[in-house]
Amino acid sequence: TTTVTVNPPALGFTAVAKNKLDVVTVPTGYTVSVINRTGDPIAAGVAAYKNDGTDTNFAQRIGDHGDALYWYGLSATGTRDPNSSTRGLLVQNHENINDQYLHVAGATTVNGARPESEAQKEIDCHGVSVTELVEGANRAWTVKQDSTFNRRITPATAMAFNGPAKGSDLLKTAFSPTGVAGRGTINNCANGTTPWGSALTCEENWAGYFRRSGDNANRSAKELTALSRYGVTSSTGSYGWSTVVAADAANTLFRRWDARAGTGAATTDFRNEPNQFGWVVEFDPYSPTSTPRKRTALGRMGHEGCWPGAFVVGKKPAWYMGDDSRREYMYKFVSATAWVAADADATDRLAIGDKYLDSGTLYVAKFNADGSGTWLPLVFGQNGLDGSNAAYPFADQADILVNTRLAADKLGATPMDRPEWTASNPVTGEIYLTLTNNNAAGRPLNGTDAANPRHYNDPKGSTAQFGNPNGHIIRIKEADTEATSFTWDIYAFGAGADLDKTNINLSSLDASNDFSSPDGLVFARATHAGGQVKPMMWLQTDDGAYTDVTNCMMLAAQPGTVGDGGARTITNTGSGGATATQATRIGAAPGANLRRFLVGPIECEITGVDSTPDGRTLFVGIQHPGEGGTPAAPTSHWPDSQAGGAVAATIRPRSAVVVITKNDGGVVGL
Ligand code: FEO
Ligand code: CA
Ligand code: CA
Ligand code: CA
Repeated sequence: TTTVTVNPPALGFTAVAKNKLDVVTVPTGYTVSVINRTGDPIAAGVAAYKNDGTDTNFAQRIGDHGDALYWYGLSATGTRDPNSSTRGLLVQNHENINDQYLHVAGATTVNGARPESEAQKEIDCHGVSVTELVEGANRAWTVKQDSTFNRRITPATAMAFNGPAKGSDLLKTAFSPTGVAGRGTINNCANGTTPWGSALTCEENWAGYFRRSGDNANRSAKELTALSRYGVTSSTGSYGWSTVVAADAANTLFRRWDARAGTGAATTDFRNEPNQFGWVVEFDPYSPTSTPRKRTALGRMGHEGCWPGAFVVGKKPAWYMGDDSRREYMYKFVSATAWVAADADATDRLAIGDKYLDSGTLYVAKFNADGSGTWLPLVFGQNGLDGSNAAYPFADQADILVNTRLAADKLGATPMDRPEWTASNPVTGEIYLTLTNNNAAGRPLNGTDAANPRHYNDPKGSTAQFGNPNGHIIRIKEADTEATSFTWDIYAFGAGADLDKTNINLSSLDASNDFSSPDGLVFARATHAGGQVKPMMWLQTDDGAYTDVTNCMMLAAQPGTVGDGGARTITNTGSGGATATQATRIGAAPGANLRRFLVGPIECEITGVDSTPDGRTLFVGIQHPGEGGTPAAPTSHWPDSQAGGAVAATIRPRSAVVVITKNDGGVVGL
């Protein structure tokens, strides 16, 4: 292990100014290069991407909307080496698509049907990519196009179901009449990892991809309740894939996106297709032919991410999860099995996953006004989680895991302001959770609580934005990963520096660190960042209430600890000037320990960040630049615009990963 000692360990760069340029801006003394653009070929013999809408074969190209990413080191001989900083596998999610740029003249529909070739491209652009990266001379990184490790996992890749819901009636489909297998993963947003070298990818906004109508008479009341609670309510499904008139006789790869129930058994229709998604999926990036496993013990929801806490020998490890929708909950899964250090070196990584991720207890968080909190167990037969639950009578533990949100409702968990990423402070073990924002419908003036305390109007932009439009970051402290209680405070509130510091800009942000809509959140690896005296945290923002002032950004932070601030009561203001007070708990103002490191190009979101274990190379995801444009008039030309020269007005933007290095060879950010 290479440990880079920095003394004193402190952020060591000058803050980047907010801006709306069509480039990735970083501090003086740093260099940006671009890899893994949407469409880049990742298999031998695949043609270079033309980026004019004619390209095909996306199952062998980088997908669209790159999201969370993570580095998995490789030794010189091509075996797993968690400490390698010069050769490794970059695993990145591909959440969604800018369909307008994937086709010559945008997405089309012919006689009410999507053309099969267009739908195939769009489907293949989702999922996950694994690519081999090598550092060459002069800090230059290359992607090995013909590496045998390179892989695309798509919505059609064969998957196995594992854990308590495996074989449940709720997972039985025409594809898998026994409910043990599935096809693919979709809307992969944030991620997680394990010390045994596997990757976790999380299925977030899968519900919208399904068409749903005309089958209510064939559905039970329970089924209809579940579909409604999960938002499987679209009358078309995103991108209309189920309209494809396909050449294959069964037409199951497109037809499946219409989740219609027939009059017979579930195995003869598509009613359970939505139950295939909403899971945490584990796969082995070092084994490109291995079958990913859906870990049903971790519940089904709009999984944003799944980040582990500390691994302590003899303690049961835990993974922390946000369910990203307005008024959804925070969860943790505690394994049934105490950690054994030797498992980190096992070579059958998915078998180790079976050991730790297939049995355990799923909990949902309740935040109390006094700064304490409780983890409520989602266990069949406990606390009314059984057939007596009037809103949704549970049949068994599989029913609870498939319909996790309905079980959490029953227990009285705390609805949050859109829970996004979780992160674990490697020194204190404290868990951070971004709450990206909420609006007046989701968080009305009289609907605040101590953990989601703000309601105000952010006057930026052309319309009033009441609610909590700039979001906040909450953090919890537990005795250990097995704990069923915790304490909490709010690390920071997003806000423009110009907003009222008494009731809105509660963390006293200034021009060097003001932000909105926190989303991505990652602590630097334990092998760098000042020997872990003050670990560094990266914070990324999504399209929020600040995009009239600046493009989305990434900040670096060295946060304190839960309770370093104190109790406070704020006065909220709703539309029409009504007011209400709310008590909360706010950490110490971050000041110079929170600083803007990067601003992205036009209409992007900053998604995903990791570094090599030595901290000298940082990888950052730039998602959907120019998402509001058209093929004829793109609104961004990034990454072609990154070099700063003239760019043709018709150049289409692409998601990509940027590699950031410090020109003096040091640790990025310090
Ligand atoms: Fe895909 Fe919640 O961000
Ligand atoms: Ca996100
Ligand atoms: Ca987001
Ligand atoms: Ca996005």
